[in-house]
Amino acid sequence: MKTKILVTGALGQIGSELVPALRAVYGEDQVVASDIRMPPRGTEGPFELVDTTNLRQLTEVARRNGVGTIYHLAALLSAVAESKPQVAWDVNMGGLYRVLEVARESRCAVFHPSSIGAFGPGTPRDLTPQDTVQRPTTMYGVTKVAGELLCDYYHHRFGVDTRGVRFPGLISYGAPPGGGTTDYAVEIFYEALRHEHYTCFLEPDTRLDMMYMPDAVKAAIDVMEADPARLVHRNAFNVTAMNFTPEELAAAIRKHLPGFRIDYQVDPMRQAIADSWPSSLDDSAARAEWGWSPAYNLDAMVADMLENLGNKLRQPEIRTRRT
Ligand SMILES: NC(=O)c1ccc[n+]([C@@H]2O[C@H](COP(=O)([O-])OP(=O)(O)OC[C@H]3O[C@@H](n4cnc5c(N)ncnc54)[C@H](O)[C@@H]3O)[C@@H](O)[C@H]2O)c1
Repeated sequence: MKTKILVTGALGQIGSELVPALRAVYGEDQVVASDIRMPPRGTEGPFELVDTTNLRQLTEVARRNGVGTIYHLAALLSAVAESKPQVAWDVNMGGLYRVLEVARESRCAVFHPSSIGAFGPGTPRDLTPQDTVQRPTTMYGVTKVAGELLCDYYHHRFGVDTRGVRFPGLISYGAPPGGGTTDYAVEIFYEALRHEHYTCFLEPDTRLDMMYMPDAVKAAIDVMEADPARLVHRNAFNVTAMNFTPEELAAAIRKHLPGFRIDYQVDPMRQAIADSWPSSLDDSAARAEWGWSPAYNLDAMVADMLENLGNKLRQPEIRTRRT
């Protein structure tokens, strides 16, 4: 019986927290981390070097390890994809296609994260519905919509158990973000703790959906554990936890660090990407079909980030005040 889980792109922002969480649930040896680069020395647990655009390598690793589920995280993120659109197509679509082929041949389930980037300027911006217009204007978004459709196709046509969520911007203090449009919401904490000052690349009133990493990890595990009989949708569910602007995030940080200052030097490319995305998602389908419910709102996330990142940066003198 194939029970093991393979995680691709496991050294990235999500994978570096999802892998330990999966190991805590299913067992250390049951979860094989993989990436196109080697893990830092001393990293524990099973690891394989896997380029997801290499079908032979993927197939061999999946067979040798008896993989039954693939969490496919390897991808180029929005800002990187926009600067290298041809590479983004190869990695995001080529990698997903090969993962789905391995899943079809080896009867694996597949988790594939989509994004708020799968929406575009023609999408209703507020409380964006689960089923709505998806005409993104970025290469990242094009690969996310096509990825959602390809995952649904493999489910309907070949019976592959594909599931996914549309993550908003993810905030964490572990691995650094990989070049997305919402990276400001992570960078701001490093700069707040180090210098009490941050220069933001998005405009002060740019409102976007966000989520703290413990909720993102929970969403990825819960949607794969969901009773398939209850699933009306599969690829991919809107999920969200909070939405805010840079100005509102700065104000929430100031409750703990009263001297914190923010100013703005807008990056036109990332601003244009952010302007094409929704400002809040309706995640009622995820709540109804598999019980989605986030634990962290803005204030709880800010308090936890400052405390844990402060510890990580070895600045124990920075005391966070819980609100
Ligand atoms: N982080 C977010 O805010 C966010 C939001 C929405 C959706 N997502 C999606 O979640 C997934 C993971 O995101 P992340 O933030 O962890 O990304 P990340 O950039 O932090 O990590 C991606 C990992 O993939 C690896 N990789 C790149 N090309 C590869 C290849 N050809 N083969 C194997 N590995 C390769 C990289 O080395 C890296 O470790 C992506 O599909 C992303 O689009 C992320």
